Amino acid sequence: MEIKKNLLPADKLQPKPKDENALGFGRIFADHLFAMDYEEGKGWINARIDPYGPIALDPAALVLHYGQEVFEGMKAYYGKDGGVYLFRPEANIKRMANSCARLCMPAPDKDIFLEGLMELLRTEKGWIPKAPGTSLYIRPNMIATEAALGVKVSDNYLFYIMVGPVGAYYPEGFAPTKIYVEEKYVRAAPGGLGEAKTAANYAASLFAGEKAHEEGYTQVLWLDACDKKTIEEVGTSNMFFVIDGEVTTAPLDGTILPGITRDSAITLCKHWNIPVSERKITIDEVIKAQEDGRLDEAFGSGTAAVISPVGSFTYRGQEIPVGKGETGDISRRLYDEITGIQWGERPDPFGWVTKV
Ligand code: COI
Repeated sequence: MEIKKNLLPADKLQPKPKDENALGFGRIFADHLFAMDYEEGKGWINARIDPYGPIALDPAALVLHYGQEVFEGMKAYYGKDGGVYLFRPEANIKRMANSCARLCMPAPDKDIFLEGLMELLRTEKGWIPKAPGTSLYIRPNMIATEAALGVKVSDNYLFYIMVGPVGAYYPEGFAPTKIYVEEKYVRAAPGGLGEAKTAANYAASLFAGEKAHEEGYTQVLWLDACDKKTIEEVGTSNMFFVIDGEVTTAPLDGTILPGITRDSAITLCKHWNIPVSERKITIDEVIKAQEDGRLDEAFGSGTAAVISPVGSFTYRGQEIPVGKGETGDISRRLYDEITGIQWGERPDPFGWVTKV
């Protein structure tokens, strides 16, 4: 498909951030985005690079009323050879197609998705930061645009990819986080939308997240919707525990987001002969392990957060410290290896890196 380029003149481009060590996450956006439309009967049309800016939507657009939306999170990096790299883009494209299927949306063709992304990255190469720990965050998004107030599957969609330079997701950076274990509210129930990357899952997390932030916690740890005992995920990340030297994480049983960093961490642990299992783990098992001195580490994994060590969990008013309250060896090793591969500083034995 031909991509039309509607580029801003040089004097209309925004200045790039001066301090790459103070980027934060998700507040700065590059000058252009990639977009295309889907119309029933026509398929995907109008692939284009447009200036970044407000989108005109009919006030009755279905996404605004019934939340028919899916999104992704990816990153691009400057390699040490000066090249630009993507990490496992085909995995994000496939996951978006799965999310689309769950939300009754037509998945963007994978070649057009990748071609549009590559064109955008070539256009916005100057926005990729170079400071250690920074990257260009990529947010593909797809929304239902048909104007209709009856609850229905939209006939029309807008797909766009926006990008912007980011640093660490959490203000703590790589320092251990404080997590609140939520017992009243749930993120996802069996048969629900939990494994789809869709706005509703994040909307479901806001109330408990706000409460936890007010009390000084970084994030909420979600338990299963039925017994409120089995550990699910953190919402921005999948969760891992290291107990007695074994790395465990919740299985992908429909309520968990199938994280690409999660999969990468599991693959690396296997590669290093570290015992790793995808199994149900309860909060009681974590407490018992801590009491017995066997809870070595806990960490979250995600595109935005990479590997984010946990310093403590608070459950029913009790603080459960993790290990020595410091970043553990496996968390550190995974962070160094994953970011090393992403930045082209370490060998890429699994072929995860794609050159733009
Ligand atoms: C990501 O890790 O890329 C995410 O999408 C999580 C969050 C920022 C919503």
